[in-house]
Amino acid sequence: MEDKKITVRDILEMKKRGEKITMLTAYDFPLANYVDKAGIEIILVGDSVANVVLGLGSTPEVGMSEMIHHSKAVTRAVKRALVIGDMPFESYQINTKESVKNARRFIDEAKCDAVKLEWFDKCLEVTEEIIKSGIAVMGHIGLTPQTADKLGGFKVQGKDAEAANKLIEQAKALEKLGCFGIVLECIPDKIAQIITKELKIPTIGIGAGVYCDGQVLVAHDMLGLFERYKPKFVKQYINLGPQIQKAVEEFKREVKEGKFPDKDHSFTIKEDELKKL
Ligand code: KIV
Repeated sequence: MEDKKITVRDILEMKKRGEKITMLTAYDFPLANYVDKAGIEIILVGDSVANVVLGLGSTPEVGMSEMIHHSKAVTRAVKRALVIGDMPFESYQINTKESVKNARRFIDEAKCDAVKLEWFDKCLEVTEEIIKSGIAVMGHIGLTPQTADKLGGFKVQGKDAEAANKLIEQAKALEKLGCFGIVLECIPDKIAQIITKELKIPTIGIGAGVYCDGQVLVAHDMLGLFERYKPKFVKQYINLGPQIQKAVEEFKREVKEGKFPDKDHSFTIKEDELKKL
């Protein structure tokens, strides 16, 4: 696999070719390294870091300082993937005037290639300002966790014609403003199919069925590193949690029994040097 950095243009070309796009989250250097080496095209430094890494209850609880900190760790590791910094709730929904400055921090300080914003009532004006300032933006519609309380909780969105039409309109509006892609979260597969057909920019689904141009999952969910809850759309490709638990228990047992460290994991000094002491 070539080490050439993936650009927004490459992602747009993939849709034109009908090649599926893969995206995963990463929040630190080691995970970003593995995800990048596996050839995943887009790495999202998601605000899901709040739940799966920081042990917080909801995504609006993380702010710019945490997101920049984690984004820097990810971009230090990545050679090839396009890295997207997920703008936290406070950075554009509370403080809309600061949104361009905050988006710029992801690019200049954290060295991300683009930012992602969730849909909210002032989404179009904020997105427009950020794009006008020269920053590539990915949209996010459907179930938007930062404002889930306004959507009736963590529920599938767009389940009737009126709600589905709203989603289609939102997607078209974001494309018109110049977004280079849109995350579709928790919507019926046939609505995702309509949106995907209508747009020239790629749709990246999470709980949005197979017709999207690409798929994203939270890495800790698909690796079995998050136990608190498991949404229906998550496929666990490996269950690392119990393996980590087993290894830690083995370390504890070996230390208690004086089996670790053994000779292979210890350093020696020559006998004659020892005698000089
Ligand atoms: O923060 C996140 O992980 C996300 C994905 C669910 C798309 O926004």
